[in-house]
Amino acid sequence: MIVYLNGDYLPSEKALIPVEERASNFGDGIYEVASFAGGRFFAFDEHMDRLRYSAREIQLKLPEDPAVYAKVAERLWGENNLGDYGTVYIQVTRGAAPRMHAFPANGTRPTVYLTTKPGKYVPDEDRAQGRPAITHPDLRWGRCDIKSLNLLPNVLAKQAAAEAGAQDCILVRDGIAIEGASSNFFAVLGGTLVTHPRGPHILGGITRQHVLRLAEAMGIPVREEPIPVEAVWKADELFFCGTTTEVMPITKIDGKIAGGGRRGPIADKLQTALHKEMWGK
Ligand SMILES: Cc1ncc(COP(=O)(O)O)c(C=O)c1O
Repeated sequence: MIVYLNGDYLPSEKALIPVEERASNFGDGIYEVASFAGGRFFAFDEHMDRLRYSAREIQLKLPEDPAVYAKVAERLWGENNLGDYGTVYIQVTRGAAPRMHAFPANGTRPTVYLTTKPGKYVPDEDRAQGRPAITHPDLRWGRCDIKSLNLLPNVLAKQAAAEAGAQDCILVRDGIAIEGASSNFFAVLGGTLVTHPRGPHILGGITRQHVLRLAEAMGIPVREEPIPVEAVWKADELFFCGTTTEVMPITKIDGKIAGGGRRGPIADKLQTALHKEMWGK
């Protein structure tokens, strides 16, 4: 696999990062994941806007305008001959420097790398079955709107989900169902599509924005407000959404049937519309 590291295209085994890299010492960096479908990267510009936002919020000066990563991603996709579906991963860190918590000396070059990965697209018949989820305490920090490399709470939550045979967790903070460990969370409550408002407790998901826009265009009532955990049990439909998750119904929570136990009509319509936009057909 060819990867991109600080301006070079290299076989992955030759792409080496110093041990004193701030990503590994402190998780001092940011990332993005965009999907490739139907011959192009989907919503790439929006991912680069979020990368700029994350960089600004952690005072990381990007070494170039991330718009240039579109060409890098396309070149990697072609050189690796990856077929029609998968993802690109983009990571930018504050670079390599002697270990000290405060920012490294001026002039320390940020580390930028991109990798591409082929994926197995989930067939719609399978997606329609939905997935189980679990509830899990949200142990993350106070700036979940930044797509930072500090993912240990997400790792532990996803592992708990995997051990329970679940797709993802509904992270719960102060009695509120916040989002998934790698996705946003939606409930249909009395015919209205509800999701947690943007702010420091959730990642402003790009798929979330598309889902909200598509729902509004379809005339589905939408509210962005906190969802108490008790309300989750009364929901007509529940789903996670994200770049690789797309619109994934939740049919069980903590082993009990939830969200009607099937993909409901709203999740169905939203997934169909999202798929069409992603694949252009
Ligand atoms: C915590 C979290 N929330 C939401 C999302 C969904 O965001 P997006 O739709 O931009 O992929 C992700 C994606 O990785 C995530 O990690």
